[in-house]
Amino acid sequence: MIIRTLIPADHSAALDLWRSCPGIQLRAEDGYAGLCAYLQRNPGLSLAGEVDGVLVATLLAGHDGRRGYLQHLVVAPAMRRHGYARRLLDEAARRLHEQGIGKAHVFVLRDAVDAMPFWGSQPGWQQRDDIQVYSTLSGDEGVVSVGAGSSGAWERAK
Ligand SMILES: CC(C)(COP(=O)(O)OP(=O)(O)OC[C@H]1O[C@@H](n2cnc3c(N)ncnc32)[C@H](O)[C@@H]1OP(=O)(O)O)[C@@H](O)C(=O)NCCC(=O)NCCS
Repeated sequence: MIIRTLIPADHSAALDLWRSCPGIQLRAEDGYAGLCAYLQRNPGLSLAGEVDGVLVATLLAGHDGRRGYLQHLVVAPAMRRHGYARRLLDEAARRLHEQGIGKAHVFVLRDAVDAMPFWGSQPGWQQRDDIQVYSTLSGDEGVVSVGAGSSGAWERAK
């Protein structure tokens, strides 16, 4: 697998990949404009994994100047257990470190059956039992636009 920086042109393939994974919640921000805004705000940090020119893995990475945040770590089902996710994680950590960010967080859905053992086995990462996450109730809860490009098809969030 070749790792490179994720770019806006990857959106359609990335969306197809994310849609195939029940562990990933899709939101309005996963539409084309949302991804472009995220990549612009966090240049050079999000990653694409390619095999034979096909997008098989993604990792969104950003930071707030203090902590890093990872989202949408996804490897195509047929490509799993080859160490690809671990490689993406290492590369994101390296790039965050280059920008002065030494600590990062990831929020994992408890019912993401493959993600839980993955994160539990990562050296240098620990499960936090001392933090409870609270999130705003967004106005688009339930139905979100996650269309590729300008097609903007609406679908129900998981
Ligand atoms: C979680 C996910 C990204 C892991 O991708 P991957 O490329 O298969 O992971 P790796 O090959 O790098 O795994 C590294 C190690 O993690 C552990 N691991 C990964 N998946 C595991 C699983 N399903 N069960 C048990 N252990 C697992 C193993 O220790 C593995 O090493 P090993 O294969 O030598 O035993 C992938 O399963 C996925 O895309 N899941 C759906 C989307 C998702 O839930 N993403 C997480 C969002 S936070």
